[in-house]
Amino acid sequence: MNIILIGFMASGKSSLGRYMATRTKREVIDLDHEIEQRAQMTIPKIFETVGEKAFRDLESYVTKLCKNYHNTIIATGGGCVLRAENRKALKEAGLVVWLNTSPENVQKFTAKRSNRPLLKGDKSLEEISTMMKSRERFYQESSHLKIDVYEHNLEEIFNIIQNYKDQFLAQEYAKE
Ligand code: S3P
Repeated sequence: MNIILIGFMASGKSSLGRYMATRTKREVIDLDHEIEQRAQMTIPKIFETVGEKAFRDLESYVTKLCKNYHNTIIATGGGCVLRAENRKALKEAGLVVWLNTSPENVQKFTAKRSNRPLLKGDKSLEEISTMMKSRERFYQESSHLKIDVYEHNLEEIFNIIQNYKDQFLAQEYAKE
């Protein structure tokens, strides 16, 4: 079964994805990276040259391919849940885990970095909070499991997901 990591920018999806891949000896796919490879451009460049809508179209395309992976860890971009079609595709592709972070951590981990067009120019805590709140229901709707990442280290998050996955698989088998 695939494990799909969703959550706001800088919630640790890519780092956890790499950590889980090492621990489980599985492959990790990063959807932002898939998008960049297909477009042959970095994400800031895509936003700058063809705009957010074209980026979201590519994002939907790679999101719908998730169901073709098997036993893979998939890290998504923070806005992957914005379209209903993506939310559906994610849930159908595996166990979806929402890494819930705090506005303070987002600010801390994104300050002075230029790789995220939507956070360009160092946003205030209030701006980050508002954006996070507007997306909360989408993360909720898309996920099977929510983890407050600021309360745990990587090892603990990994164990929470592994335990949940065992229960989840048992329930899926019981349904058959
Ligand atoms: C976005 C999140 C980014 C990237 C793009 C848009 C968003 O990914 O896909 O900049 O809308 O939240 P990360 O969550 O990996 O930063």
